[in-house]
Amino acid sequence: MYSSLMSWISLPCLIVTTLLSPSFNVYSTASAIETRTKSDQLVKITLFIKKRDNLTYEEFHEYWSGPHVKIFHSVPIVRQNIIKYSQFHSNESVDLTQYGLTPVGYDGGVNLWTRSLDDLLAVFNDEEYLNVVVPNGKTFFKYDEMTAMYGWEEDKWDHE
Ligand SMILES: *[C@@H]1O[C@H](CO)[C@@H](O)[C@H](O)[C@H]1NC(C)=O
Ligand SMILES: *[C@@H]1O[C@H](CO)[C@@H](O)[C@H](O)[C@H]1NC(C)=O
Repeated sequence: MYSSLMSWISLPCLIVTTLLSPSFNVYSTASAIETRTKSDQLVKITLFIKKRDNLTYEEFHEYWSGPHVKIFHSVPIVRQNIIKYSQFHSNESVDLTQYGLTPVGYDGGVNLWTRSLDDLLAVFNDEEYLNVVVPNGKTFFKYDEMTAMYGWEEDKWDHE
């Protein structure tokens, strides 16, 4: 990002731009590893999920990626409180053990970012979420075997 900008923005213009931008330090210095980004100001939870045995891996990935997201997004408190959402799909065609790595044993990670733990809990305790999203999740992953990790994300770099 920075190097491509540098190729066409003149130096005085760049200085003005960076001073005016609240997040200028993210991209403008070599010390990017010490800066805070938007994700850093949010809390994060990752829910680790395992596919149900009655779906193929292909069905699991497709359903989670498409129809489930529509249902998830249809719930107002989800749209309101979840600032950022991404899915980490396990590529089961790669056997990590051959590289000396132990697979974590899950098929996916649901990454959710909110402004606070309260905002996150408000989603999980919301009546519509409980009546719509949770039952839908139970149709394609083993809900009772879901595990979670809660904390914060530190973005260190993100090259183009
Ligand atoms: C899964 O891994 C294989 C082997 O690296 C790769 O060919 C394939 O494209 C990957 N699938 C996805 C969806 O990235
Ligand atoms: C898998 O089983 C669940 C629970 O019985 C069911 O709701 C879902 O429709 C099934 N999925 C498929 C693809 O058969």
